[in-house]
Amino acid sequence: MRKNKKTLPLLAAVFGLLAAKSVCAQTGTSLPQLGKNSNAEVIAAMTLEEKAKLVVGNGFHMPGSRRQEPTIGQTQDKVPGAAGTTFAIPRLGIPSIVVADGPAGLRIQPIRNNDSSKTYYATAFPVATLLASTWDTALVRQVGVAFGSEVHEYGVDVLLAPALNIHRNPLGGRNFEYYSEDPLVAGKMTSAIVNGIESNGVGTSIKHFAANNQETNRNTINTIVSERALREIYLKGFEIAVKNAQPWTVMSSYNKINGTYTSQEYDLLTTILRKEWGFKGLVMTDWFGGRDPIEQMKAGNDLLMPGTPQQSQKIIDAVKHDSLSSKVLDENVNRVLNLILQSPSFKKYKYSDQPNLKKDAEVSRTAAEEGMILLKNDNNALPLTGKIKVAAFGNTSYDIIAGGTGSGDVNKAYTVSLVDGLANAGFAVDEELQKTYTTYLSSERLKHPKKNFMEEFMNPTPPIDQLTVAGDLLNKKAEEADVAIFTIGRNAGEGRDRKLENDYFLSDTEKEMIKNIADAFHAKNKKLIVVLNIGGVIDVASWRDNADAILLAWQPGLEAGNAIADILSGKTNPSGKLATTFPMDYKDVPSAKNFPGKEFPEQASTGNGVFRQVPAEVTYEEGIYVGYRYYNTFNIKPAYEFGYGLSYTDFDYSDLRLSGNTFAKTIRATVTIRNSGKIAGREVVQLYITAPAKTIDKPAEELKGFAKTKLLQPGQSETISFTINPDDLASFDTKRESWVAEAGSYTVKIGASSQQIKQTASFSLTKEIVTERDHKVLVPQTEINEMKSQKRAF
Ligand code: BGC
Repeated sequence: MRKNKKTLPLLAAVFGLLAAKSVCAQTGTSLPQLGKNSNAEVIAAMTLEEKAKLVVGNGFHMPGSRRQEPTIGQTQDKVPGAAGTTFAIPRLGIPSIVVADGPAGLRIQPIRNNDSSKTYYATAFPVATLLASTWDTALVRQVGVAFGSEVHEYGVDVLLAPALNIHRNPLGGRNFEYYSEDPLVAGKMTSAIVNGIESNGVGTSIKHFAANNQETNRNTINTIVSERALREIYLKGFEIAVKNAQPWTVMSSYNKINGTYTSQEYDLLTTILRKEWGFKGLVMTDWFGGRDPIEQMKAGNDLLMPGTPQQSQKIIDAVKHDSLSSKVLDENVNRVLNLILQSPSFKKYKYSDQPNLKKDAEVSRTAAEEGMILLKNDNNALPLTGKIKVAAFGNTSYDIIAGGTGSGDVNKAYTVSLVDGLANAGFAVDEELQKTYTTYLSSERLKHPKKNFMEEFMNPTPPIDQLTVAGDLLNKKAEEADVAIFTIGRNAGEGRDRKLENDYFLSDTEKEMIKNIADAFHAKNKKLIVVLNIGGVIDVASWRDNADAILLAWQPGLEAGNAIADILSGKTNPSGKLATTFPMDYKDVPSAKNFPGKEFPEQASTGNGVFRQVPAEVTYEEGIYVGYRYYNTFNIKPAYEFGYGLSYTDFDYSDLRLSGNTFAKTIRATVTIRNSGKIAGREVVQLYITAPAKTIDKPAEELKGFAKTKLLQPGQSETISFTINPDDLASFDTKRESWVAEAGSYTVKIGASSQQIKQTASFSLTKEIVTERDHKVLVPQTEINEMKSQKRAF
């Protein structure tokens, strides 16, 4: 018989059934098995209870604590210190999978069962804000490759990272975990690291979706934000990451957007994420996020983490009482199964528990060096050359901060301090100061016994007061040493935002120290270098005149001291640039008067017993004017602008050429960068666009592309090319629910920063383009007195 086209699918179906049946026979059971049978068959064989447990994690288990509920199949003990696991159903071949934090390195317990003969340390990579400051997506991808290999080799299936919320305000407690104030940078960095991590065959969870830009009242805060600001600023990075990297999972956030918890918002998780952007993976909650499991299921929040038995019970009851359809639940279950199918646990990967930590530390160090930013360098105070003697001041010169706290922390085997890094690089470090500081720090540490993760989370250990070095000792050091380094350290993390006093602003001791060190050393014609070991923006304007040079080292991971020393010595020429603005004054920050919002204590509940829940709201009145979009449009001079960073060499920009004067489908811009200085270096090149702004309110300019040159030798040039697409010209027009590129003249600005524009060229768009029509969703229920550019009334 000749097979015709119609009989083929029929035969295939019959064959498929036979195959499935025989496979089931092989397992000695008539039950379908995950991966051998279709998901539909597996789901059909599941009980309602099993489904309701599969979409809810196995519960929260703190290391050392009693488990709150029994787990079945694989348990959290597979990887102690991991943040959670899913429910296993062995009879259907469904294993449990393991998820673990976090954004700067894998967070698992380093020592198991008090046996330190075998350790499980992970590499602390530089924090996300530093990675963004590299502006080097290829490098960030490499960090991802190294990072993902540790996830894989330690038996974890999904990393709960990267995090890409926006630096809306400098006080955001988790800003160090996030990349930038700009969604293009955040989206591109996220895509790069996700692609790197997932190339190992493990998953990621891009988080926290969305508008989770503060920690104050994080479980209750209602973020009131316009559709335009939401889409252009707070969703854009996620959109870029979903479209370019298709991460295995997305983590919804704790907050509400315009009245609804994100994990319960169908229009966020389904209409936008899945229908508009084409996301194919799974959505999980943040830990204990949201309130109503039924609404979460309906919204498309497939997995509730870490999971409670009450959530499963509610789901069972809702299906029985027809308030949740089995069809919806089956879709959620199907997505959990798809995730498990991809996982190393399902593939029975034999992880070694021995990632190549040595190699990964090198990756961490390289990334750290590429993301440090030289903010100031008067009279070539840096690099420090020769075998000179360094007087290192500041607690964090001896106790450097590799990364932030909370779930963004990493249990690393070591952190190289600044003084050790200097010594490794061949500098002589003043021993008397070293002894003074280390004795002081050890005695202070004894006053604060080490707490476990939860105790620390609830009641963080305050930073050790800055040791004052003044008078004779300071003068003696100014006499003996060749240069002074003063390190300012800041730490923050999950659960609380930063404060203005003694955090954003320097403490009185720090201010006095900077002034006194500067005076003492300058009197001897010697220099003061300030190193900023911080995770977020601090005030610089009030003290920077005292420093000859300022190196923004961020929180650079476990090789901190070595990386800083390489920059200070000139072994590596600094090439990082700011992906977040340093304002002149906190009052200049566009969200200052709307951060962290209003509380309604009279409506407070006792919460879940641990956290008091205070209803609160924050209104994003600054709209799209976040970061440089604000400072540039409203002519507010920052201390150091977005995109800014110095080098030990100079670069010339020339020959900006556009592929046409009129925009057709795309336009290509090329520009040549030449190293015009005396030593090799890399330059970050930024492309901004100024739009006509006739019918749509637009920022003065917006970043639409960036690139980093290769290492250019003195005199060497590189031509960089950018492609400008219609999307790069479009803004979200709320009335039309569309992305619109208006007709008119556009200026391409190639800059060394958002304010140092080196080359410009123009093209025109003859006819408006509607690049995309979207849904009218997530509409604020109250009117927002939103900031508009003063240039025109719209
Ligand atoms: C954090 C998440 C983290 C989760 C699991 C939550 O408190 O907000 O970022 O992934 O805990 O540890």
